[in-house]
Amino acid sequence: MIESSQNLPTRFGSFYLFDLIGRGGMAEIFLAKTFTSLGTERLSVIKRILPHLSEDKVFCEMLIAEAKLCARLSHANVVHTHDLGVIRDQYYIAMEYIEGFDLNQLLSLLSKAQTSLPLQFGIYIIMETLQGLDYAHRLSDTGGAPLGIIHRDVSPTNVLISTEGDVKVCDFGIAKATMSDVGQIHLDEYHLKGKVAYMAPEAIGGQQAVDRRADLYAAGILLWELLSGRRLYKRKDENETMALAQEAAAPRLVDRGFPEYERLADMVEKALSKNPSERYQSGAEFIDALSEYLHRNKLIVSQLKFADFLMEHFGEDLYRHRREREKVLDEIGEYRERHSRPDMVEPPTPDPDAFPPFDGFEGLEEGESLLQTPPRAQAIPAPFQPKPQVFARLSQEVSTTMWVAAALALVLVAAIVGFFALR
Ligand SMILES: Nc1ncnc2c1ncn2[C@@H]1O[C@H](COP(=O)(O)OP(=O)(O)O)[C@@H](O)[C@H]1O
Ligand SMILES: [Mg+2]
Repeated sequence: MIESSQNLPTRFGSFYLFDLIGRGGMAEIFLAKTFTSLGTERLSVIKRILPHLSEDKVFCEMLIAEAKLCARLSHANVVHTHDLGVIRDQYYIAMEYIEGFDLNQLLSLLSKAQTSLPLQFGIYIIMETLQGLDYAHRLSDTGGAPLGIIHRDVSPTNVLISTEGDVKVCDFGIAKATMSDVGQIHLDEYHLKGKVAYMAPEAIGGQQAVDRRADLYAAGILLWELLSGRRLYKRKDENETMALAQEAAAPRLVDRGFPEYERLADMVEKALSKNPSERYQSGAEFIDALSEYLHRNKLIVSQLKFADFLMEHFGEDLYRHRREREKVLDEIGEYRERHSRPDMVEPPTPDPDAFPPFDGFEGLEEGESLLQTPPRAQAIPAPFQPKPQVFARLSQEVSTTMWVAAALALVLVAAIVGFFALR
């Protein structure tokens, strides 16, 4: 739990925000609880866009466009986006909560525990990340036309590791909104600060259009860092980082007793080529190379084994955090009770004049959600309406059946009356 800019828990539309788990140049990230009318509860992560960006027309248009595209993503290695909406003039993205750590936190936990990540788990994390990226890169619309999704911000804080050993990529396409003019990267702005260390050289120059190979390059940097236990280009001074990242002259992986070291170092080198055409050209190609290396060296890895490793080393931290969260959640029940009483008023809505609508900007209306699209007309089954001739035949069949039944009943009554009369 990091220090919050406001008192928590607090209500935000139908969400009860109760823990501030991250804050960047673009948004505050809250852990939130929602309740349905039937009492079902769900934990979500709410990424609430900072007010000055919620007022930025270009940013919001880009965010909406990207969120619409990324709402189509549904894959085990991609954090699921539930919704993008606006409440009290603040845009938010609601997504699946991953209990665990991001890659940055994992690296610092490892260094605190003076433990290095076993080679097979480093490779596993990158292979899973690549599966999520490759899926998004390949996604096409219903007509088969590629959607051209690129993550653009593959970095340690956007790779989440769950307590169950899942690896999931989050914040797909959001970086595009922060780079409204792709050629102009303002390091002091938004959340790009600190991310430049994972950018492909062609993305920093801004002269070339970036494609999926920029994402694969960033995955290569993550691999280099996981296997080396240190940062590749990231330095305290942001300008130095940018110069190193743009130069893209990665030192060869240091041999830490890896099996088939030369092969491994060659793979990493290929992934980190400055020239995109010398890199792996697709996620699948990169995955194939890594899995072949695992296989050749009889390195066995699975999600369960990775989860065991996490529990063995960081289980106590995770359980302590879970206990703290449960305690807060109990308090929310009481908070909700208090705030749902009819005598309680909603927090005052800001003066609408304070946030004048943008000229010609087709943003979201208050409370409107983007990702909950109405069901398509053809998806609703039409009620059964028999054709007229079928209907006539049906009524004919029904009336014949009725006559036969009536005749049988009459015969039965007559038989009973006759039986009693004869007695
Ligand atoms: N869906 C999620 N589940 C759990 N934690 C998350 C989720 N999304 C983000 N976080 C946490 O919030 C932190 C901040 O997220 P974010 O603002 O996107 O930072 P960044 O811009 O550095 O990626 C992440 O590093 C991660 O630890
Ligand atoms: Mg992020």
